[in-house]
Amino acid sequence: MAKRVIRIFDTTLRDGEQTPGAALTSEEKVIIARQLEKLNVDIIEAGFPAAGNDDFNAVKEISSIIGKPAVCALGRCRKEDIDIAAKALEGAKRSRIHVFIATSPIHMKFKLKMEPGQVIKEAEKCVGYAAGLCDEVEFSPEDAGRSEPEFLYTVLEKAIHAGATTLNIPDTVGYTQPSEYGALIKGVIENTPGYNDSVTVSTHCHNDLGQSVANSLAGVMAGAGQVECTVNGIGERAGNAALEEIVMNIHTRERFFNAATNINLREIYSTSKMVSELTSIPVQPNKAVVGRNAFAHASGVHQHGILSNREVYEIMNPKMIGKETELVIGKLSGRAAIADFLKKNGIEPDENELAAITSGIKEAAAGKKGLKDDEIVAIAAKAMGGRKDLPLNNL
Ligand code: KIV
Ligand code: ZN
Repeated sequence: MAKRVIRIFDTTLRDGEQTPGAALTSEEKVIIARQLEKLNVDIIEAGFPAAGNDDFNAVKEISSIIGKPAVCALGRCRKEDIDIAAKALEGAKRSRIHVFIATSPIHMKFKLKMEPGQVIKEAEKCVGYAAGLCDEVEFSPEDAGRSEPEFLYTVLEKAIHAGATTLNIPDTVGYTQPSEYGALIKGVIENTPGYNDSVTVSTHCHNDLGQSVANSLAGVMAGAGQVECTVNGIGERAGNAALEEIVMNIHTRERFFNAATNINLREIYSTSKMVSELTSIPVQPNKAVVGRNAFAHASGVHQHGILSNREVYEIMNPKMIGKETELVIGKLSGRAAIADFLKKNGIEPDENELAAITSGIKEAAAGKKGLKDDEIVAIAAKAMGGRKDLPLNNL
Protein backbone atom coordinates (compact mmCIF):
# COMPACT_ATOMS: atom_id res chain seq x y z
CA MET A 1 0.00 0.00 0.00
CA ALA A 2 1.29 3.47 -0.90
CA LYS A 3 2.60 5.63 1.94
CA ARG A 4 0.00 8.16 3.16
CA VAL A 5 0.88 11.80 3.72
CA ILE A 6 -0.62 12.92 7.02
CA ARG A 7 -1.59 16.61 7.11
CA ILE A 8 -0.32 18.62 10.04
CA PHE A 9 -2.90 21.12 11.32
CA ASP A 10 -1.15 23.46 13.71
CA THR A 11 -3.33 25.09 16.35
CA THR A 12 -0.57 26.75 18.43
CA LEU A 13 -2.06 30.17 17.73
CA ARG A 14 -5.60 29.13 18.70
CA ASP A 15 -5.78 26.15 21.10
CA GLY A 16 -2.15 26.72 22.15
CA GLU A 17 -2.88 30.29 23.08
CA GLN A 18 -5.54 28.96 25.46
CA THR A 19 -2.66 27.93 27.75
CA PRO A 20 -3.05 29.90 30.98
CA GLY A 21 -0.69 32.88 30.77
CA ALA A 22 0.30 32.38 27.14
CA ALA A 23 -1.39 35.40 25.56
CA LEU A 24 0.36 36.52 22.37
CA THR A 25 0.14 39.90 20.66
CA SER A 26 -0.88 40.09 16.99
CA GLU A 27 2.75 40.87 16.07
CA GLU A 28 3.97 37.79 17.94
CA LYS A 29 1.32 35.66 16.24
CA VAL A 30 2.47 36.88 12.85
CA ILE A 31 6.09 36.01 13.70
CA ILE A 32 5.03 32.49 14.74
CA ALA A 33 2.80 32.09 11.67
CA ARG A 34 5.74 32.91 9.37
CA GLN A 35 7.82 30.30 11.21
CA LEU A 36 5.01 27.74 10.89
CA GLU A 37 5.04 28.35 7.15
CA LYS A 38 8.81 27.68 7.14
CA LEU A 39 8.13 24.52 9.14
CA ASN A 40 5.75 23.66 6.27
CA VAL A 41 2.63 22.82 8.26
CA ASP A 42 -0.39 22.17 6.04
CA ILE A 43 -2.93 24.27 7.94
CA ILE A 44 -2.47 27.12 10.42
CA GLU A 45 -5.38 27.67 12.78
CA ALA A 46 -4.74 31.35 13.37
CA GLY A 47 -7.42 32.18 15.93
CA PHE A 48 -11.04 32.48 16.99
CA PRO A 49 -12.10 35.85 15.49
CA ALA A 50 -15.39 36.05 17.42
CA ALA A 51 -13.40 36.01 20.68
CA GLY A 52 -12.32 39.65 20.23
CA ASN A 53 -10.55 42.26 18.13
CA ASP A 54 -7.10 40.87 18.88
CA ASP A 55 -7.96 37.47 17.44
CA PHE A 56 -9.81 39.03 14.51
CA ASN A 57 -6.82 41.23 13.64
CA ALA A 58 -4.33 38.41 14.02
CA VAL A 59 -6.31 36.12 11.69
CA LYS A 60 -6.73 38.96 9.19
CA GLU A 61 -3.04 39.80 9.18
CA ILE A 62 -1.91 36.17 9.01
CA SER A 63 -4.34 35.59 6.11
CA SER A 64 -2.68 38.38 4.17
CA ILE A 65 0.91 37.10 4.56
CA ILE A 66 0.68 33.31 4.42
CA GLY A 67 1.22 31.70 1.03
CA LYS A 68 1.24 27.91 1.13
CA PRO A 69 -0.61 26.60 4.20
CA ALA A 70 -4.38 27.03 4.45
CA VAL A 71 -5.35 29.61 7.07
CA CYS A 72 -8.12 28.48 9.38
CA ALA A 73 -10.39 30.41 11.76
CA LEU A 74 -12.52 28.82 14.47
CA GLY A 75 -16.16 29.65 15.14
CA ARG A 76 -18.98 28.28 17.26
CA CYS A 77 -22.02 27.01 15.43
CA ARG A 78 -23.49 30.54 15.21
CA LYS A 79 -24.07 32.78 12.22
CA GLU A 80 -22.23 35.73 13.87
CA ASP A 81 -19.13 33.62 14.56
CA ILE A 82 -19.05 32.28 11.02
CA ASP A 83 -19.54 35.74 9.48
CA ILE A 84 -16.70 37.21 11.48
CA ALA A 85 -14.43 34.23 10.75
CA ALA A 86 -15.13 34.62 7.02
CA LYS A 87 -14.40 38.34 7.19
CA ALA A 88 -11.07 37.79 8.97
CA LEU A 89 -10.11 35.19 6.33
CA GLU A 90 -10.95 37.38 3.32
CA GLY A 91 -7.31 37.86 2.27
CA ALA A 92 -6.30 34.19 2.65
CA LYS A 93 -5.04 32.30 -0.40
CA ARG A 94 -6.79 29.21 0.95
CA SER A 95 -9.35 29.79 3.70
CA ARG A 96 -10.86 27.29 6.07
CA ILE A 97 -13.62 27.85 8.62
CA HIS A 98 -13.65 25.42 11.52
CA VAL A 99 -17.13 25.11 12.99
CA PHE A 100 -17.76 23.27 16.24
CA ILE A 101 -20.70 22.21 18.37
CA ALA A 102 -20.70 19.83 21.33
CA THR A 103 -22.16 16.35 20.94
CA SER A 104 -21.56 14.61 24.28
CA PRO A 105 -24.56 14.14 26.60
CA ILE A 106 -22.93 16.20 29.36
CA HIS A 107 -22.05 19.13 27.06
CA MET A 108 -25.43 19.14 25.31
CA LYS A 109 -27.33 19.08 28.61
CA PHE A 110 -25.29 21.44 30.80
CA LYS A 111 -23.45 23.70 28.38
CA LEU A 112 -25.60 24.02 25.28
CA LYS A 113 -28.90 23.20 26.99
CA MET A 114 -30.00 21.71 23.67
CA GLU A 115 -31.71 18.49 22.68
CA PRO A 116 -29.68 16.13 20.43
CA GLY A 117 -32.08 16.75 17.53
CA GLN A 118 -31.43 20.50 17.75
CA VAL A 119 -27.68 19.93 17.74
CA ILE A 120 -27.96 17.92 14.52
CA LYS A 121 -30.00 20.68 12.86
CA GLU A 122 -27.64 23.45 13.99
CA ALA A 123 -24.57 21.54 12.82
CA GLU A 124 -26.04 21.01 9.35
CA LYS A 125 -27.21 24.61 9.08
CA CYS A 126 -23.89 26.15 10.22
CA VAL A 127 -21.66 23.94 8.08
CA GLY A 128 -23.84 24.73 5.07
CA TYR A 129 -23.64 28.45 5.82
CA ALA A 130 -19.84 28.37 6.28
CA ALA A 131 -19.39 26.38 3.06
CA GLY A 132 -20.68 29.36 1.08
CA LEU A 133 -18.12 31.72 2.64
CA CYS A 134 -14.70 30.02 2.36
CA ASP A 135 -12.69 27.47 0.41
CA GLU A 136 -13.06 24.57 2.82
CA VAL A 137 -15.01 23.73 5.97
CA GLU A 138 -13.90 21.65 8.91
CA PHE A 139 -16.48 20.40 11.40
CA SER A 140 -15.80 19.33 15.00
CA PRO A 141 -18.27 17.55 17.28
CA GLU A 142 -16.80 18.87 20.52
CA ASP A 143 -16.16 16.27 23.23
CA ALA A 144 -16.46 13.51 20.63
CA GLY A 145 -14.43 11.30 22.99
CA ARG A 146 -17.42 11.19 25.39
CA SER A 147 -20.15 11.23 22.73
CA GLU A 148 -22.37 8.31 21.76
CA PRO A 149 -20.82 6.85 18.59
CA GLU A 150 -24.18 6.36 16.83
CA PHE A 151 -25.11 9.98 17.49
CA LEU A 152 -21.72 11.11 16.20
CA TYR A 153 -22.21 9.22 12.94
CA THR A 154 -25.53 10.99 12.39
CA VAL A 155 -24.14 14.48 13.10
CA LEU A 156 -21.11 13.82 10.89
CA GLU A 157 -23.32 12.54 8.07
CA LYS A 158 -25.20 15.84 8.11
CA ALA A 159 -21.94 17.80 8.21
CA ILE A 160 -20.63 15.98 5.12
CA HIS A 161 -23.92 16.53 3.36
CA ALA A 162 -23.74 20.26 4.16
CA GLY A 163 -20.21 20.58 2.73
CA ALA A 164 -17.63 19.72 5.42
CA THR A 165 -14.53 18.11 3.92
CA THR A 166 -12.65 17.60 7.20
CA LEU A 167 -14.27 15.84 10.15
CA ASN A 168 -12.27 16.52 13.29
CA ILE A 169 -12.82 14.19 16.25
CA PRO A 170 -11.83 16.03 19.43
CA ASP A 171 -10.99 14.25 22.63
CA THR A 172 -11.68 17.60 24.25
CA VAL A 173 -11.03 16.52 27.83
CA GLY A 174 -8.24 14.00 27.18
CA TYR A 175 -10.33 11.10 28.49
CA THR A 176 -9.79 8.33 25.97
CA GLN A 177 -7.11 5.65 25.83
CA PRO A 178 -5.23 4.91 22.58
CA SER A 179 -7.14 1.74 21.65
CA GLU A 180 -10.46 3.48 22.33
CA TYR A 181 -9.55 6.57 20.37
CA GLY A 182 -8.30 4.44 17.46
CA ALA A 183 -11.59 2.52 17.53
CA LEU A 184 -13.50 5.81 17.55
CA ILE A 185 -11.71 7.00 14.38
CA LYS A 186 -12.19 3.62 12.71
CA GLY A 187 -15.87 3.67 13.68
CA VAL A 188 -16.33 7.14 12.15
CA ILE A 189 -14.66 6.08 8.90
CA GLU A 190 -16.60 2.84 8.62
CA ASN A 191 -20.02 3.91 9.84
CA THR A 192 -20.63 7.52 8.86
CA PRO A 193 -23.06 7.51 5.95
CA GLY A 194 -21.73 9.61 3.07
CA TYR A 195 -18.07 9.26 4.13
CA ASN A 196 -15.95 9.16 0.97
CA ASP A 197 -12.38 9.65 -0.26
CA SER A 198 -12.68 13.40 -0.44
CA VAL A 199 -13.41 13.60 3.30
CA THR A 200 -10.47 13.69 5.74
CA VAL A 201 -10.88 12.49 9.31
CA SER A 202 -8.72 14.37 11.79
CA THR A 203 -7.47 13.80 15.32
CA HIS A 204 -7.53 16.46 18.06
CA CYS A 205 -6.33 15.08 21.39
CA HIS A 206 -5.84 16.79 24.72
CA ASN A 207 -3.30 15.63 27.24
CA ASP A 208 -5.15 15.41 30.57
CA LEU A 209 -4.00 11.82 31.10
CA GLY A 210 -0.75 12.22 29.18
CA GLN A 211 -2.13 10.27 26.21
CA SER A 212 -2.54 12.98 23.58
CA VAL A 213 0.33 11.90 21.34
CA ALA A 214 -0.40 8.17 21.72
CA ASN A 215 -4.08 8.81 21.00
CA SER A 216 -3.32 10.91 17.91
CA LEU A 217 -1.01 8.22 16.57
CA ALA A 218 -3.62 5.53 17.26
CA GLY A 219 -5.96 7.72 15.20
CA VAL A 220 -3.43 7.81 12.36
CA MET A 221 -3.13 4.01 12.48
CA ALA A 222 -6.93 3.79 12.28
CA GLY A 223 -7.08 5.94 9.13
CA ALA A 224 -7.02 9.60 10.20
CA GLY A 225 -5.42 11.77 7.51
CA GLN A 226 -4.90 14.91 9.59
CA VAL A 227 -3.47 15.51 13.06
CA GLU A 228 -4.20 18.65 15.06
CA CYS A 229 -1.38 19.62 17.38
CA THR A 230 0.58 22.49 18.92
CA VAL A 231 4.28 23.31 19.13
CA ASN A 232 5.65 22.08 22.49
CA GLY A 233 2.19 20.61 23.20
CA ILE A 234 0.92 23.85 24.72
CA GLY A 235 -2.82 24.33 25.22
CA GLU A 236 -5.71 24.34 27.70
CA ARG A 237 -4.98 22.56 31.02
CA ALA A 238 -2.39 19.82 30.30
CA GLY A 239 -2.19 20.90 26.65
CA ASN A 240 -2.61 19.38 23.20
CA ALA A 241 -0.69 16.72 21.30
CA ALA A 242 2.84 18.02 20.64
CA LEU A 243 3.58 18.66 16.96
CA GLU A 244 7.25 17.71 17.23
CA GLU A 245 6.44 14.37 18.88
CA ILE A 246 3.77 13.46 16.33
CA VAL A 247 6.03 14.35 13.41
CA MET A 248 9.12 12.58 14.76
CA ASN A 249 7.14 9.44 15.61
CA ILE A 250 5.84 9.28 12.06
CA HIS A 251 9.27 10.07 10.60
CA THR A 252 11.32 7.75 12.84
CA ARG A 253 8.84 4.88 12.50
CA GLU A 254 7.90 5.59 8.89
CA ARG A 255 7.58 1.92 7.98
CA PHE A 256 5.48 1.17 11.04
CA PHE A 257 3.01 3.94 10.19
CA ASN A 258 3.46 3.61 6.41
CA ALA A 259 3.08 7.38 6.44
CA ALA A 260 4.98 10.65 6.21
CA THR A 261 4.34 14.35 6.82
CA ASN A 262 5.33 17.43 4.82
CA ILE A 263 7.14 18.98 7.79
CA ASN A 264 10.55 20.54 7.26
CA LEU A 265 12.26 18.73 10.14
CA ARG A 266 15.21 21.15 10.32
CA GLU A 267 12.89 23.88 11.55
CA ILE A 268 11.50 21.89 14.49
CA TYR A 269 13.92 23.02 17.20
CA SER A 270 13.97 26.68 16.22
CA THR A 271 10.16 26.72 16.11
CA SER A 272 10.02 25.16 19.58
CA LYS A 273 12.44 27.78 20.96
CA MET A 274 10.52 30.62 19.35
CA VAL A 275 7.17 29.47 20.74
CA SER A 276 8.67 28.96 24.19
CA GLU A 277 10.23 32.43 24.19
CA LEU A 278 7.21 34.30 22.86
CA THR A 279 4.71 32.55 25.13
CA SER A 280 7.12 32.55 28.13
CA ILE A 281 6.32 28.87 28.65
CA PRO A 282 9.54 26.91 29.25
CA VAL A 283 10.02 23.48 27.74
CA GLN A 284 10.66 20.83 30.39
CA PRO A 285 14.29 19.58 30.11
CA ASN A 286 13.32 15.95 29.55
CA LYS A 287 10.61 16.73 26.98
CA ALA A 288 10.78 14.32 24.02
CA VAL A 289 12.45 15.67 20.88
CA VAL A 290 12.91 19.34 21.86
CA GLY A 291 13.80 19.23 25.59
CA ARG A 292 17.28 20.43 26.60
CA ASN A 293 18.19 16.87 27.60
CA ALA A 294 16.53 15.04 24.70
CA PHE A 295 19.96 14.31 23.17
CA ALA A 296 22.18 14.80 26.25
CA HIS A 297 24.05 11.81 27.69
CA ALA A 298 25.38 11.80 31.24
CA SER A 299 26.50 8.30 32.19
CA GLY A 300 29.90 6.94 31.29
CA VAL A 301 28.45 3.80 29.71
CA HIS A 302 26.12 5.79 27.46
CA GLN A 303 28.79 8.35 26.57
CA HIS A 304 31.19 5.59 25.59
CA GLY A 305 28.45 3.98 23.46
CA ILE A 306 27.65 7.27 21.72
CA LEU A 307 31.32 7.89 20.97
CA SER A 308 31.57 4.45 19.33
CA ASN A 309 28.40 4.91 17.30
CA ARG A 310 25.75 7.58 17.92
CA GLU A 311 22.94 5.15 17.12
CA VAL A 312 23.83 3.01 20.14
CA TYR A 313 21.79 5.40 22.27
CA GLU A 314 20.05 7.74 19.81
CA ILE A 315 17.12 6.73 17.62
CA MET A 316 16.94 10.12 15.90
CA ASN A 317 19.80 12.23 14.58
CA PRO A 318 19.43 15.52 16.48
CA LYS A 319 20.96 17.41 13.53
CA MET A 320 17.85 16.50 11.56
CA ILE A 321 15.76 18.81 13.75
CA GLY A 322 18.43 21.48 14.28
CA LYS A 323 19.86 20.14 17.56
CA GLU A 324 23.16 18.51 18.60
CA THR A 325 24.20 15.46 20.60
CA GLU A 326 25.65 16.54 23.96
CA LEU A 327 27.91 14.61 26.31
CA VAL A 328 27.49 16.14 29.76
CA ILE A 329 30.73 16.00 31.72
CA GLY A 330 30.08 15.23 35.39
CA LYS A 331 30.53 12.67 38.13
CA LEU A 332 29.15 9.82 35.97
CA SER A 333 31.41 10.49 32.99
CA GLY A 334 34.11 8.03 32.03
CA ARG A 335 37.50 8.61 30.43
CA ALA A 336 36.25 8.32 26.85
CA ALA A 337 33.86 11.27 27.14
CA ILE A 338 36.31 13.36 29.16
CA ALA A 339 39.07 12.75 26.61
CA ASP A 340 36.64 13.66 23.82
CA PHE A 341 35.67 16.91 25.57
CA LEU A 342 39.31 17.84 26.18
CA LYS A 343 40.32 17.03 22.60
CA LYS A 344 37.56 19.30 21.27
CA ASN A 345 39.13 22.02 23.39
CA GLY A 346 42.66 21.37 22.14
CA ILE A 347 43.88 19.42 25.20
CA GLU A 348 45.42 15.97 24.76
CA PRO A 349 46.55 14.48 28.09
CA ASP A 350 48.51 11.24 28.32
CA GLU A 351 46.98 8.19 30.04
CA ASN A 352 48.18 9.10 33.56
CA GLU A 353 47.08 12.68 33.21
CA LEU A 354 43.67 11.56 31.93
CA ALA A 355 43.23 9.27 34.95
CA ALA A 356 44.04 12.18 37.28
CA ILE A 357 41.69 14.52 35.41
CA THR A 358 38.88 11.92 35.56
CA SER A 359 39.19 11.55 39.33
CA GLY A 360 39.47 15.33 39.71
CA ILE A 361 36.24 15.77 37.77
CA LYS A 362 34.41 13.10 39.79
CA GLU A 363 35.53 14.72 43.02
CA ALA A 364 34.59 18.24 41.93
CA ALA A 365 31.23 17.16 40.50
CA ALA A 366 30.08 15.16 43.56
CA GLY A 367 27.03 16.81 45.06
CA LYS A 368 26.97 19.45 42.32
CA LYS A 369 24.36 19.88 39.58
CA GLY A 370 27.03 20.18 36.90
CA LEU A 371 30.47 21.52 36.02
CA LYS A 372 31.12 24.51 33.83
CA ASP A 373 33.45 24.04 30.86
CA ASP A 374 36.13 26.27 32.34
CA GLU A 375 36.00 24.36 35.65
CA ILE A 376 36.81 21.19 33.71
CA VAL A 377 39.71 22.83 31.92
CA ALA A 378 41.03 24.16 35.24
CA ILE A 379 40.97 20.61 36.66
CA ALA A 380 42.85 19.41 33.56
CA ALA A 381 45.40 22.21 33.89
CA LYS A 382 46.07 21.25 37.51
CA ALA A 383 46.32 17.53 36.73
CA MET A 384 48.73 18.28 33.90
CA GLY A 385 51.24 19.95 36.20
CA GLY A 386 49.82 23.44 36.27
CA ARG A 387 50.16 23.94 32.54
CA LYS A 388 49.53 27.50 31.57
CA ASP A 389 49.08 26.87 27.83
CA LEU A 390 45.62 25.31 28.07
CA PRO A 391 42.83 27.22 26.33
CA LEU A 392 41.03 28.40 29.47
CA ASN A 393 40.13 31.69 27.90
CA ASN A 394 38.62 30.12 24.83
CA LEU A 395 35.75 28.69 26.82
O1 KIV B 1 -10.71 20.55 22.20
C1 KIV B 1 -11.66 20.86 21.46
O2 KIV B 1 -12.73 20.26 21.46
C2 KIV B 1 -11.46 22.01 20.59
C3 KIV B 1 -12.50 22.25 19.57
C4 KIV B 1 -12.87 23.66 19.46
C5 KIV B 1 -12.07 21.65 18.27
O3 KIV B 1 -10.44 22.68 20.66
ZN1 ZN C 1 -8.88 21.56 21.74
